[in-house]
Formats: sequence, C-alpha cells, structure tokens
Amino acid sequence: MNISIVGTGYVGLVSGVCFAHHGHTVICVDIDEQKVKNINKGIAPIFEKDLEEMLRSNRSRIRATTHYKDAIAHSDITFVCVGTPSMDTGDIDLTEVREAIIHIARELTDKRSFHAVVVKSTVVPGTTRDVLLPLIEKESGKKAGKEFGVGMNPEFLKEGVAIEDFLHPDRVVNGYFDVQTKDMLHALYADFSCPLIETSLTVAEMIKYASNCFLATKISFINEIGNFCKTLGIDVYTVADGMGLDTRIGRAFLNAGIGWGGSCFPKDTSALRTWAHKTQQESHLIDSVITVNNLQPMQLIKILKKYIPDLKGTTIGILGLAFKQDTDDIRESRTIPLVEILCSEGAHVKVYDPKAMKQFHTLFPNIMYCDSANKVLDADAVLIATAWDEFKTLDYSGKLVLDGRRMLEAKNTAKTYEGVCW
Ligand SMILES: NC(=O)c1ccc[n+]([C@@H]2O[C@H](COP(=O)([O-])OP(=O)(O)OC[C@H]3O[C@@H](n4cnc5c(N)ncnc54)[C@H](O)[C@@H]3O)[C@@H](O)[C@H]2O)c1
Repeated sequence: MNISIVGTGYVGLVSGVCFAHHGHTVICVDIDEQKVKNINKGIAPIFEKDLEEMLRSNRSRIRATTHYKDAIAHSDITFVCVGTPSMDTGDIDLTEVREAIIHIARELTDKRSFHAVVVKSTVVPGTTRDVLLPLIEKESGKKAGKEFGVGMNPEFLKEGVAIEDFLHPDRVVNGYFDVQTKDMLHALYADFSCPLIETSLTVAEMIKYASNCFLATKISFINEIGNFCKTLGIDVYTVADGMGLDTRIGRAFLNAGIGWGGSCFPKDTSALRTWAHKTQQESHLIDSVITVNNLQPMQLIKILKKYIPDLKGTTIGILGLAFKQDTDDIRESRTIPLVEILCSEGAHVKVYDPKAMKQFHTLFPNIMYCDSANKVLDADAVLIATAWDEFKTLDYSGKLVLDGRRMLEAKNTAKTYEGVCW
C-alpha cells in the first residue's frame, strides 16, 4: 500500500518505519525541516531503540517531505500522528491536528481517486466524527464515505520499546466511518498476529482513553494501598504480588512509588476529565486518580521530615530527573514537584540524571547540577526519584537514602534506608 504519515514524532516515525518494514511505501510529512532532512539521510530525529537501524534498512521504501501535496498525491491512505498536548485548562489542544487535517483536506480537493484519512493521534471521544470529519468535508468540498474515507486507529506503543510494541501489539483497534477505509485498514494490519477490533470512530477513541486512564488508575490505586502499608510497616510489593497472581487483576502496573508522569497519562487523564465536565458529567474516579498522583511525591517529603523536620539550609540530593528510566523525557516528571517543595522550604537541592539534565535545567536553572551520581550523595539526605540502573550500584555508605522507586540495592550500603511505600 502507498501510505503517508503526517507528523514524524514518536508515533509517526515509528509507524512509518514499521509499515515500510512490512513492505509498504511510506512518505512522512513534517513541518520541521531539520527532521525531514535527517530522516532522508537515515538519521532518526528521536532516540528510540532500533529505530535508526530500521530507518536505514528500509530506506528504499520510506522518505520524508515538508510538502503535503507530494505526500497526498502519492499515497492512498494518510495517518495523522501530530501531537495533542494539554492546554492550561486541561483540555486537549487540537491545534496541530486541525492544521494537519486542513492541509490534507485541501490536497484532496483535486484528487480523483479515493483516499482514506486515519487519525492516529490521541483525541477525545467524538472528535474524529464530530470535528475532524466535517472539517475535511468543508476544506475539501468532498463527501465523507463517498470521495474520501475516515478512520481512527489509536496507538498503544510505549516510548523506549516503541518498535517492538508497534510490530507486536496486544491488539489493533481500527475505528472506521466507511467500509472502504475499514477494508484498507484491515489489509494493512492483516499480517499482524494479534486480535483486531473493528469498530466505530468513537469507540476506537474511547478504547485509547479508557486504557490509559485505567493504567493510571492501577498505579494510583497501588500507591494509595502502599501508603496504607507504610503505616502498618508492611511491604506493598508483597501485597501487589499476592494481588497480581489473581488473573482478574494481573501484576502489571502495580509497582508503588512516587507516581506517574510522562507525555501520555497526565494529559490523557486530564483531557478525559475536562471533556466529561464540559459535557456536564462527573468524573469522580479519574479526579481521585489524578489527586492521588499529585499528592504522592509529598509522601517522600513526609518521610524526609521525620529525619529532618526543618529543611531550611539543608542540602538534599535527588537522583533522577526523567519521568522514567531509559528516556530523557522530563514531561510531568515527579521530580518537578519534589524540587518545588524542597526549594520552597529553603533546602539547597543538588541533582543528577544520566540523560535529562539539560531539559531539567530549562525548568530549574538555579539548583545545583552534578556531573555524576556520586556527587549528589554528598548531602544531608538523598532521594531516589527515577529508577536508572546506575543508581543501584552506588556506594551509599553513611547516607540517609529515601527511595521513591524501589531501588532496594541501596539498602545494602545506606546507613539509613526507607522506601516511600515499603
Ligand atoms: N509518545 C507516545 O508514547 C505515544 C503513545 C501513544 C499515542 N501517542 C499519541 O500520538 C500523538 C503523537 O504523539 P508523539 O509523541 O509522536 O508526538 P511528537 O510531539 O513526538 O511528534 C509530533 C510531530 O508532529 C509534527 N507536526 C506538528 N504539526 C504538524 C503539522 N501541521 N504537519 C506536519 N507535522 C506536524 C511535529 O513537528 C512533530 O515532529 C499524540 O496524540 C499522542 O498522545 C503518543
């Protein structure tokens, strides 16, 4: 099949490279000229395991451009993979999606053959059917279901293992407006060995939000149970193991700590909640999931204050700035509220992260950045905020170590060690 992909970020470029790997011809469109140049040179503009190698090995089938005309004219199906960030109100920001859709629609005006437009970006339920489909009709002057098709194919990949997740997904969800688009998507995913759900546009959108909100719920749930366990002096991880063996529950996403961050859970929980409120609905459960997550870093501060009641003038070291290990992404990292609280209480904060120092510096230019993890240890207390492997093998002798990420190895050498929920 001839495919075009609009937006070459984590989702767009990974999808493009994987479709090329499956033998399809792929044209990627991005407004970022540098990204386009890099892709055409075989250089992946983002860090993702195996991405660059696969980009290079499939170069005869994948190229990039800044021109929508070129991409739409030479493809039969377009995937929209641009960003959908949060606005300050918590709403989803559809600016990039609208822009992409308008450009695609205008190129459809003169196209003779049928073309399917498939939204892969995460958009709140109802958006594709009620906002984007009418926008394509308006801008192209054509009729959906007759002259062009519309689909919604949410993406479930995880950063860090994105290629593996794309090629071997747990399921593929194909939402469709018209049968022709349904058939095209069906053919595209025919050789994927996983269950395929073919459904409406809005169900597809809701499956994505419900999945992410449920995963965030599991983590907030185990964090609340973990806080209870802490007061009882018991280990929440044994509790999670006991729960996880129940096949109705499962062990995944029951690792207690200082909460979730990143580019998806915070914005998706917030977007679904805001959408619910705007449509005069309550969102009690999602509200609580977000509240538990916002409060969870405070649990580590509470424990710190048991040892050092007045933080003014003390030096507190933090290991880890990225929202999770193996990424340089600091979006909604739980280290952000930790630093805010410590600074507001008058502590001197020193930090280290193997990948995310530059990004964090833009948010907090006035804290101390150490060029090694060892240098952070020279502090009145050390907080572990990201589970980077290298923090396991540090020599914590003589140190007070408070762990937000279950780095139990620290216990072996620390003078005093406590976990946030264990
Ligand atoms: N990153 C993830 O782990 C992940 C997983 C599943 C779903 N998603 C969803 O997929 C979507 C994309 O996420 P991402 O992380 O890949 O985003 P990203 O920010 O990494 O990439 C977006 C890309 O779109 C480009 N772009 C913006 N406006 C454009 C336009 N008008 N025309 C062409 N290109 C344009 C940007 O230059 C950028 O390269 C979001 O809705 C996100 O919620 C992301």
